[in-house]
Amino acid sequence: MRIGILKGNGIGPEIIAATQQVLSATGRTFEWVDIPIANEAIALHGHPLPQQTVDALKAVGVAIKGPLIVDKLQGRLTCIHRDGTEHTYPSLNNAIRRELALFVNPRPIRGMGTISGRHNSLDMVIMREITEDVYIGWEHQIGDIAAEAIKLTTRIAAERVARFSFEFARKNGRRRVTCVHKANVLNYTDGLFLRCCRKVALEFPDIAFDDCMIDAACYHVVKDPARFDVICTSNQYGDIFSDLGAGLIGSLGLAPGANIGADVAVFEASHGAAPDIAGQGIANPIALILSGALLLRHVGLAEDALRVEKAVRHIVITGCMLTPDLGGISTTQQITDAICAEIISTS
Ligand code: NAI
Repeated sequence: MRIGILKGNGIGPEIIAATQQVLSATGRTFEWVDIPIANEAIALHGHPLPQQTVDALKAVGVAIKGPLIVDKLQGRLTCIHRDGTEHTYPSLNNAIRRELALFVNPRPIRGMGTISGRHNSLDMVIMREITEDVYIGWEHQIGDIAAEAIKLTTRIAAERVARFSFEFARKNGRRRVTCVHKANVLNYTDGLFLRCCRKVALEFPDIAFDDCMIDAACYHVVKDPARFDVICTSNQYGDIFSDLGAGLIGSLGLAPGANIGADVAVFEASHGAAPDIAGQGIANPIALILSGALLLRHVGLAEDALRVEKAVRHIVITGCMLTPDLGGISTTQQITDAICAEIISTS
């Protein structure tokens, strides 16, 4: 089976190597296809996301991606297509998602024993729409006195992510979908998102549906971890809410994710490139390893996915080996080896 590998930068290469080691420990044979991105792609093709990279991702269909450092104030980039058309995106990550028509970013947040404290019971999946909202990057400067951004919500995108959320809930024995929004203020954009979720909910009478304002959702998830199950939300709220969830269970290093489209899926951790700890061998590889498990499930290897997830949970819950973000002293390599040993010993 072929899996594309985008190493990324910062802690990317370290946690990518860990993930490849763990997936191989399942005993499956994978053909790893290195696909250049960012600096590697600039060196080879003169662009951080050249069309060769887009084509390679389409050819493999599934890929694991390390995080990418994005310049805080000048991250915009323009992709030039083979037919001469071009599109400017606000960041490299945004460009990957949109060039490949990836439309939903599922981010499971699940408590892991005492490490997650009173959020041990938190078990929610955030379904973040990733093609629009303010992250389309349609913003401009008005002289030097102001700047303005457009927030886009379309019926097609909102219904698509809502349907994906309900279908996921039904397939995975989940009981409720909650639309998270701010429609009391943004009557048109978030209002449309909420109305689309309500409409799609009617097609799934077996799944409960409710909605919650983003500010209240932040409050509830802290106070009452069992309140949420599947969350369907727009791009920016999903981005922020998932980091909150990761913090509640103990670390961004525990929060996996995926970017799913009709033909291509790219699996990546919720966190960024963590430049503050890059190169030290202490990054927590678990979020990306669990993203790898999501990939296995996506391609129909559910049993292998479960073996990886169980091994990770065993290592974290017993607390025998933890990286510094979880209060331990273990290295990336030590925890990776421990997870592999657990997978092999329970096979
Ligand atoms: P970040 O998620 O990289 O780091 C936030 C904090 O969490 C840091 O203290 C970091 O050390 C820690 N952390 C994150 N992942 C960890 C892990 N696996 N193990 C241990 N500790 C971990 O967010 P930040 O600092 O805002 O962004 C750094 C860079 O990453 C920026 O250039 C940002 O644009 C980029 N970024 C990239 C993303 C992606 O490629 N999908 C997503 C988010 C940010």
